[in-house]
Amino acid sequence: MANRWINRLRDRDVTDEGVYLNRRQIMGGAAAGIGLAGLGQGAAAQEALTPNDYEDITQYNNYYEFGTDKGDPAKYAGALTTSPWTVTIAGMVDRPGDYAFEDIMKAMTIEERIYRLRCVEAWSMVVPWNGFELADLLNMAGVQSGAKYVAFETAYRPEEMPGLRFPVLDWPYVEGLRLDEAMHPLTIMATGIYGKDIPNQNGAPLRLVVPWKYGFKSIKSVVRITLTDKQPPTSWNKAGPREYGFYSNVNPEVNHPRWSQADERPIGGGLFARRVPTLMFNGYEEEVAHLYEGMDLTANF
Ligand code: MTE
Repeated sequence: MANRWINRLRDRDVTDEGVYLNRRQIMGGAAAGIGLAGLGQGAAAQEALTPNDYEDITQYNNYYEFGTDKGDPAKYAGALTTSPWTVTIAGMVDRPGDYAFEDIMKAMTIEERIYRLRCVEAWSMVVPWNGFELADLLNMAGVQSGAKYVAFETAYRPEEMPGLRFPVLDWPYVEGLRLDEAMHPLTIMATGIYGKDIPNQNGAPLRLVVPWKYGFKSIKSVVRITLTDKQPPTSWNKAGPREYGFYSNVNPEVNHPRWSQADERPIGGGLFARRVPTLMFNGYEEEVAHLYEGMDLTANF
């Protein structure tokens, strides 16, 4: 059941070097009784999700640390040193510390997740990520009982990130989730795309992906994760509090003050491609609506 967002069966291109896709997990998933019926249903549901080309996913980006044009990240993010890389896990955890990226990778199970990505600017893509569940990383650090939120921070490297010269945002880029959102099985840290290491422009070596929220919540190149009991500040909310809320769940009924969120432009369909309706929680309503039961989603945008 509930396996329809996970494509565990696809085993493409996994012989490339630098690919972390864990075959044991794929086999293990099937053997552990995810169930043939479940897999069948998953395969059917996935058919509707045709991933974008690698080219689209890696040439049309938002990563303002490298410039605000969609082509800037692909041009300039090569300058980012991604190895060695350390993620500091701090705050209300039993085992705080500096975790080397390689050690995290050894401890985590990498899966392929084909997710919709809906930018707040009203364009969208479908991306075949490789990554691990954020919950597994948080459990490795040991979340303490008083923790209620998770704060994230992107690397701050003025000498490698030309965009930091411009005060578009209050750098470094920061984001946050409620703890239950962070622990939800849909929430991953992505480390690959199409079975290859994630390119710098997409947030190497690891970035958050929260598929039911606007893309800006999915913070790139994470260097710090802090467990806290207070709602953390977030970059776009600081820049425009009336336009970008803390939750930022995809919601076709709550428009951005300056444009409609009712529909979106799928990338890859050409300049005159038809817009398609935006789905509540970006199509993941069944999985996540319960997180917001009783909340006014217009007030908590
Ligand atoms: N993370 C950082 N550090 N800086 C950014 O500018 N842009 C966000 C998000 N994460 C951004 C970021 C926005 S607006 C979107 S839509 C997605 O990354 C885009 O991810 P993609 O380029 O992999 O499609």
